[in-house]
Amino acid sequence: MPESTDKNLYVNDARFYDLDPREFLKTDIPFYLHRAAKIGGPILELACGTGRITIHLAEAGHEVWGLEYSETMLEQFRNKLAGFPKKTADKIHLVQGDMSHFQLDREFAFPLVILPCRSFQLLYDEEKENACLKCVYSHLAENGLFIIDIGNFIPNKAKEGEWVSSEEFFDWENSDPKTGDKIQRTHIKKEIDTVRQIIYPQKTFHITKPDGAIEKVVKRSPFKYFFEDQVRNLLVANGLKIVEEMGYYDGRPITETNSEFLFVCQKV
Ligand SMILES: C[S@@+](CC[C@H](N)C(=O)[O-])C[C@H]1O[C@@H](n2cnc3c(N)ncnc32)[C@H](O)[C@@H]1O
Repeated sequence: MPESTDKNLYVNDARFYDLDPREFLKTDIPFYLHRAAKIGGPILELACGTGRITIHLAEAGHEVWGLEYSETMLEQFRNKLAGFPKKTADKIHLVQGDMSHFQLDREFAFPLVILPCRSFQLLYDEEKENACLKCVYSHLAENGLFIIDIGNFIPNKAKEGEWVSSEEFFDWENSDPKTGDKIQRTHIKKEIDTVRQIIYPQKTFHITKPDGAIEKVVKRSPFKYFFEDQVRNLLVANGLKIVEEMGYYDGRPITETNSEFLFVCQKV
């Protein structure tokens, strides 16, 4: 069951998170910076992780609240932030908490709330998804924008049966400048639960140390998958009107494979 692992989901691999060099983890940053420049702050980022996006927003001059569940990810965030000027660090307000159950202590509503990088798919059940969107609603300013990014992992019901595979897929490789370790990540599409719509990829980090020693970190990494209309219905059911939708951060539309579901919403 994913529920037993979610709080600790990144406990063994948070240290590798910022080494992932894949393109989609670069193209979203200018998108959020552009939106933030248009609408202004303060900004609330849900499931902010290691601050991959948060820090750029703060560097651009925005006050940013980052909510994150995992202590290990927050530790990476704080360590990284220590290398930035005080004026950037002072703009970031980190809160450890659950995005499906939070009430931030502040006297204003946020003109921009973002939920990037497929993190919503780590809630795993509809009750928590609705609870999360209700919290978003109560923190979002009238006329404010909520932007959510969901990965389009399985385009339709007919494709569910094709997901599981024994093949080991290459994801990425990189070197850790701090340790000199070389990291390669692969995954196997282990299991699918078509009732709860959860996929269970098994990710392996293959680490080669500078002295040639080899270590492996294996992670079971459950993700809920959504079909396009399910996301639309969830947003609308929680009082959010979709004002824009895209499949890619450069504005191209949703496609059957390899796109995101990127929705920009306002309060109804
Ligand atoms: C894919 S990472 C995204 C991190 C960051 N937003 C980014 O764009 O790089 C997913 C993050 O969601 C966090 N997370 C998972 N469930 C959560 C929850 N219920 N509340 C808050 N954070 C959660 C994980 O700990 C992890 O840091």
